[in-house]
Amino acid sequence: MTIKPEVIEDLVSQARLVRDHAYCPYSQFPVGCAILTKDSIVYTGVNVENVSFGATNCAERSAIFTAITEGYRPKFIQAIAVAGETEDFLPPCCICRQVLVEMADPDTPVYLTRKDGKILTTSVADLAPYSFEKLEM
Ligand code: THU
Repeated sequence: MTIKPEVIEDLVSQARLVRDHAYCPYSQFPVGCAILTKDSIVYTGVNVENVSFGATNCAERSAIFTAITEGYRPKFIQAIAVAGETEDFLPPCCICRQVLVEMADPDTPVYLTRKDGKILTTSVADLAPYSFEKLEM
């Protein structure tokens, strides 16, 4: 599925806007994520931290879990945009990559962004090669 440049720009801008809602008092590292579903609905998410640091939820998983809560099922994702305030492109952590493997097709575009506004397009497969996908012995 080809995604129009204006749709990509809009997704990235929603990820940037929602970043203001990040709850990150411990890291001071706000992240916003916007996910476009295959039926063209956008779900957003932010990182939500906790004093017990391991309880933190990343922006990507917040967005995905919200969509799942609304009734979406695995492989529902058309594209993902991630926005931090970093000098370099901000990639999803490996826990989020594992979740993406289950929720998105391997060729799903992932738009990484950086402070100066540039966008790097990668994919779920590029971010998570040799991923764990099946409980099989
Ligand atoms: N974080 C995200 O929300 N997404 C990423 O892609 C990388 C890291 C969050 C987790 C934590 O709240 C903060 O950024 C610092 O690691």
